[in-house]
Amino acid sequence: MLKIDKVTKQFGGVIAIKDVSFRVKPTEIFALVGPNGAGKTTLFNIITGAFKPTSGHIYFKDEEITGLNPVKIVQRGIARTFQNIRLFGSLSVLENVLIGFEQSLEYTYFEALLRFPRFFKQERIHKELAMEILKFLGIDKYAALNAKALSYGNQRKVEIARALATEPDLLLLDEPAAGMNPKETDELADTIFKIREEKEKTILFIEHDMKFVQKIADRVMVLDYGKTIFEGKPADMMKDEKVIKAYLGDIDVESK
Ligand SMILES: Nc1ncnc2c1ncn2[C@@H]1O[C@H](COP(=O)(O)OP(=O)(O)O)[C@@H](O)[C@H]1O
Ligand SMILES: [Mg+2]
Repeated sequence: MLKIDKVTKQFGGVIAIKDVSFRVKPTEIFALVGPNGAGKTTLFNIITGAFKPTSGHIYFKDEEITGLNPVKIVQRGIARTFQNIRLFGSLSVLENVLIGFEQSLEYTYFEALLRFPRFFKQERIHKELAMEILKFLGIDKYAALNAKALSYGNQRKVEIARALATEPDLLLLDEPAAGMNPKETDELADTIFKIREEKEKTILFIEHDMKFVQKIADRVMVLDYGKTIFEGKPADMMKDEKVIKAYLGDIDVESK
């Protein structure tokens, strides 16, 4: 489904990603973990076309997508959510999902305002589809509310709904459980399973919560300073010496 082939990304003197390769299979739930600054979000930005890699190639459904712009990548069938929630607080939940149908996730507020009247002229079908997605995620009852009025966990679901509205085959979730309470985290796990089972999507997600990773991931890759230090089953990850060292190192830094 997705093949990352020897990707490197350099920002000036900083090598954020170094020679990273991996594959994600259809309908797999694949986790990307690693300490802060490991290069995880950079990798998402490269896959979604926000950044061009310094070197290396990306293939999606057997076609090279390296260097395509973000809109083209969405059209090919890759959608994402962001580490920091990017919803339009003054728009309703439904309107936020309708933005997904515009086939691009990189909106400025100004652009959204310009495009806004067009949303009303869209075929009724868009609204029906958006309502269907909200229902699927169990948040249809909030459709008319301002996105800002929702709980944190439900705002994350609205972001997922907006990504699903682009009808992706591959869904990228950047720290979807960050800031969630245990109940919200459990619900999120159920939601991700449901997206895989019922919508047959492939999911690549970044996460720090190891329990969450162990619970839902089929496979996991650990990045440290831009390099792959582990790839395999979540159960084996916690026993891996390099992984333990990377995380203990992280704790050391934080406790100083
Ligand atoms: N747009 C950018 N310009 C310069 N450096 C960046 C940029 N984005 C990320 N970096 C650097 O790349 C490294 C990896 O960052 P990031 O991918 O955000 O890590 P993670 O998501 O794993 O916490 C960091 O050193 C960060 O400062
Ligand atoms: Mg990040």
